Amino acid sequence: MSRLWRIGLVSVVIVLAACGETPAPGDDPRADPRDAARVALGAKVYARECAACHGAKLEGQADWRKRLPNGRLPAPPHDESGHSWHHPDHVLFAITKNGVVPPYAPKDYQSDMPAFGAKLSDDEIWAVIANLKSHWRTKEVLDARAEMTRQARPR
Ligand code: HEC
Repeated sequence: MSRLWRIGLVSVVIVLAACGETPAPGDDPRADPRDAARVALGAKVYARECAACHGAKLEGQADWRKRLPNGRLPAPPHDESGHSWHHPDHVLFAITKNGVVPPYAPKDYQSDMPAFGAKLSDDEIWAVIANLKSHWRTKEVLDARAEMTRQARPR
């Protein structure tokens, strides 16, 4: 089993444990990376709202695993070198809409990730996620995400 795949599986378990609710599929049809129009809209929103921190090429900020002097984390990459792909779509949606807040972070957690709920429509947020996903292409990543969907109970 490859390392990437194992990391993916471990974080699926963590996400499911953190949610404590019926797991939702990894992939949501509202963030379909094969939908060219959605991906194009998402790329526009990404360039305008996300690239300043997460990088024009989704590369994230330098030394993104190392805390800043103020104790906060830098913006991680959204390409396959980061860990966004470990999260099911609905988690990426919730973090983008509400910021890094419970149930995905402890109460009072301090983060530089803004909440976009007042600035972007739900549709624009799903489009941004479709755009991120259009950059995930390796077999390890796609297999790990398919596994999240397989493990989810139908709703
Ligand atoms: C002002 C800088 C900034 C902007 C702008 C920004 N982010 Fe972030 N983002 C961050 C930081 C910093 C983190 C890490 C937060 C933490 O863990 O404390 C983060 C984390 C995230 C995460 C969680 C990643 C993970 O692997 O857990 C997602 C998803 C995310 N951002 C999406 C977006 C999207 C989508 C946009 C644009 C709509 C955006 N961000 C714009 C700074 C930013």
